[in-house]
Amino acid sequence: MRLPERVTMCEVGTRDGFQIEPDFIPTEQKVEVVNLLSAAGLPRIEVTSFVHPKAVPQLRDAEEVMARITRRRGIRYAALVPNEKGAVRAIEAGVDAIHTVLSASESHNLANVNMTIAESLDRLGAVMRVAAAAKLHVGCGVSTSFGCPFEGDVPLARLERVVGRLVEMGARAVGLADTTGMANPRQVGRVLEHLIPRFPGVEWTLHTHDTRAMAIPNILAAMEHGVTNFDASIGGLGGCPFAPGASGNVCTEDLVHCLHAMGVQTGIDLDRLVGVSRRVQEIVGRALPGQIVKAGPSTRKYPVPDTVAGRIPRAG
Ligand code: COA
Ligand code: ZN
Repeated sequence: MRLPERVTMCEVGTRDGFQIEPDFIPTEQKVEVVNLLSAAGLPRIEVTSFVHPKAVPQLRDAEEVMARITRRRGIRYAALVPNEKGAVRAIEAGVDAIHTVLSASESHNLANVNMTIAESLDRLGAVMRVAAAAKLHVGCGVSTSFGCPFEGDVPLARLERVVGRLVEMGARAVGLADTTGMANPRQVGRVLEHLIPRFPGVEWTLHTHDTRAMAIPNILAAMEHGVTNFDASIGGLGGCPFAPGASGNVCTEDLVHCLHAMGVQTGIDLDRLVGVSRRVQEIVGRALPGQIVKAGPSTRKYPVPDTVAGRIPRAG
């Protein structure tokens, strides 16, 4: 396999995860989780979103969360925004980066942000101007890049058109999002093989959901095509409230474990990350999908049973 030496992870659990939790997570617990994640070495954190508080009431405390987190040097604290109003709020709240949201399918874009794709692109043009004036990094996410829960297949030509418009508007970082876990590794390879050479200079991110247990295979396929930026969610929290059947992102600690086992560096402390996941399970009051919290790392050893101990032949 052709794997990179190092990848950059962006934690999205406090946004993609907390946005779909049935109960409002108290602000101080959100702040605690962001601080635990930064202490574990996550280089990028999508802290929250600046959207309409009626659309996503779980994140109505976005300003307060941004104001109360401890800012560690070198960490990029981002927020998701759908329009200029969100961008202005995010900038006033002191984010380092803006992540925009737009879908490759019309029906999901309407369900998610109440705009056609053309209307969204207009709004995002304004977002990019506001962000550029504030000298902030902008990452442009494209939801339903690999399939839409309403429309099914999303033609690659349509995805290319949407990405093309974003790039024309100045996008330098594009995130392809598999909103409801419809992508498979061969498809991810095909899409990247097509898009990467068409948009030279773009920094690509893959945003996966593990709805159908294909998130890590999809990430492996993306790494083989040179992608080194991945979103993930602590414990495997996550899901879009406006996409039926949506479920959690790829689990951060499971992905970090997989990468480290293969010798791919992330700069993240896996033991601490597992501790964060345990704390998040306490906060949400249930077990999360992550496997490593239950199984331990692949280096874990168990005591040899007494019935076996005296009978093991010497190696060699
Ligand atoms: N933050 C707070 N308020 C906002 C806002 C934002 N980012 N954008 C718009 N509003 C307010 C407007 O000021 C206006 O307020 P008013 O009625 O008091 O004048 C009102 O919302 C309606 O504005 P409009 O532009 O018509 O928005 P809308 O009702 O069509 O909603 C979105 C559009 C994008 C704001 C809304 O659909 C949304 O927030 N979606 C969230 C999607 C999301 O987070 N999905 C999950 C992540 S993928
Ligand atoms: Zn998502």
